[in-house]
Amino acid sequence: SARTRILGTAVALLAVTSAGLTTGSSAEAAAPDGRGAAGQGDPYFPLSGNGGYTTGHYDLGLAYDPATQRLDGTETITARATQQLTRFDLDLSGLTVRSVRVNGRTARWTREGQELVITPGKPLRKGQSFRVDVSYGGIPQDVTDPDGSPDGWIQTDDGAFVAGEPQGAMSWFAADNHPLDKASYSFTITVPAGYTAVANGVLTSQRTKGGKTTFRWCQAQPMAAYLATATIGKFDVQRYTTASGIPVYNAVDPREAADAAPALARIPAILDWESGIFGSYPFSAAGAIVDHAPDVGYALETQTRPLYDSAPDVDTVVHEIAHQWFGDSVSLTSWQDIWLNEGFATYAEWLWEEQHGGRSAQATFDAYYARPAASSLWAFPTADPGEGANIFDSPVYTRGAMTLQKLRTAVGDTDFLTILKTWARGHRYGNGTTAQFTALSEKVSGKNLDGLFHTWLYTAGKPAQP
Ligand code: ARG
Ligand code: ZN
Repeated sequence: SARTRILGTAVALLAVTSAGLTTGSSAEAAAPDGRGAAGQGDPYFPLSGNGGYTTGHYDLGLAYDPATQRLDGTETITARATQQLTRFDLDLSGLTVRSVRVNGRTARWTREGQELVITPGKPLRKGQSFRVDVSYGGIPQDVTDPDGSPDGWIQTDDGAFVAGEPQGAMSWFAADNHPLDKASYSFTITVPAGYTAVANGVLTSQRTKGGKTTFRWCQAQPMAAYLATATIGKFDVQRYTTASGIPVYNAVDPREAADAAPALARIPAILDWESGIFGSYPFSAAGAIVDHAPDVGYALETQTRPLYDSAPDVDTVVHEIAHQWFGDSVSLTSWQDIWLNEGFATYAEWLWEEQHGGRSAQATFDAYYARPAASSLWAFPTADPGEGANIFDSPVYTRGAMTLQKLRTAVGDTDFLTILKTWARGHRYGNGTTAQFTALSEKVSGKNLDGLFHTWLYTAGKPAQP
């Protein structure tokens, strides 16, 4: 099955030929002609990411003019070849490429759908570190997800809402666009004076000159491309450091400020509470971007600084901050494991409610379990939603959280909390799979949990027992 394929030791990679898709090469074996694969082999998003190299750092230089909606980018990626490479790909959708250099030398390139195919002047050796410079520009077009929602660079009435899950990063920079390949980032973003450009991590400088403001941001810990943002608008900015020493930067659209204030005021309390439960906060900055983007319809856990399309409630902030551990620090290996992000962030909401004077997580579970067998909640298995169009649906979020409640009652509170903490610590800044999580749960508890996970993760339909 697709599941076995991605969880196997050799992650199958897709090799794309001009004739179409052929599967077969493994992560280590180079295609005979030295081409890096066009995708990471993800069953839901086969062309996301690329083969043959891993990235270490992205340095993104961006200039955006909200009046013309034009974006200009100069980008430098440092990477390392994992095979001999006569050519390799980056993911880029739309925009016009002006030039590509590899190790400072002009390289040939072509565009094939979302693949920017690069042929360096000299093949890269396996193990070789290399640098890619891409210069590009144009009016970015957001990407339409399989479920019809927009992601990527989404224009607003005063700038852009920039959220890339699962595929949208490629609408604004060239990337190895799969969570398997995480890297550090720096951003230099220039916008007309009066606008604010907010990215991930720490603001290292802000300068206004000649009617333009340049913001520099630095994200030192590894980040998946989909979690990068460069959201632009006319924002009120709030900065402070929490009592536990985390610098907070909030950028808020004034039209949302009054409604957002109560939830934003809880950020330090949420960071402390979640650090107590999941282990120390993985990043060196926190905050929120509250935009006014009525057509978007979702929030995203952009690393360090979640992005909201409108004023969030406390539950939503609890959810997005929980993703900093589950999704951002511990990232997916395959998109079909998305419950490891969404089920966990949803469970954080249930636990917050339980510990802040609301109903217990068990009561929340019971309320959902009461849903009829025909409910969409039971439509497909939590740990294999079947296709990219289903990854943000209730069997992933709600049934995923129900699975964690089942685990909690099976192993007891102490082991349950140990499992969550050990998961977050053991895969910190890396990736995880459902199989690794279920194995950890059995190891910590000393129990055979095959039946529980089989029913709750891998079977569609309403389970016979609550
Ligand atoms: N991960 C986000 C959240 O639940 C949801 C993103 C939805 N994205 C989308 N393109 N529909 O916090
Ligand atoms: Zn979520």
